[in-house]
Amino acid sequence: MQSNVYDCVVLPLNKIHNRAGNITIVEGQINIPFDIQRIYYLYDIPGGESRGGHAHKALKQLIIAASGSFDVLLDDSINKKVVTLNRPDYGLLVVPGIWRELMEFSSGAVCLVLASEKYEEEDYIRDYHTFLFIKNGN
Ligand code: TYD
Repeated sequence: MQSNVYDCVVLPLNKIHNRAGNITIVEGQINIPFDIQRIYYLYDIPGGESRGGHAHKALKQLIIAASGSFDVLLDDSINKKVVTLNRPDYGLLVVPGIWRELMEFSSGAVCLVLASEKYEEEDYIRDYHTFLFIKNGN
């Protein structure tokens, strides 16, 4: 939980291009620093909505704008940064102990998430004051 927002980096992914389009391949422990246990995706997000609003204790994620664009607000309790994702050949690595909110979704945006663990509600920190307490003890 000692992580900070600067540990969350945008990773360039490969892109194989030909006249029929592009393909990007992501393999656990090869292109990203974890094994992929779960994939989920957000779509049909109404205009003006935001998602996230939580942190994870152990989960690592790679967040990709598979289509369209959106912003990811990252917060380690001291520093904040906003990353705009708008290309399917880049992914944002989000490490444990980071509060995140996803917002400013473009029309038709698809947010693809590759996750290091199966779904466990116990891994979530959904209350911001609890997050601050775990990070800083106050
Ligand atoms: P949540 O992670 O809170 O969504 P977001 O951060 O995008 O706003 O999940 C929304 C709901 O979906 C919540 O009831 C838990 C459920 N859920 C699963 O059952 N399995 C999963 O793998 C995920 C990501 C969510």
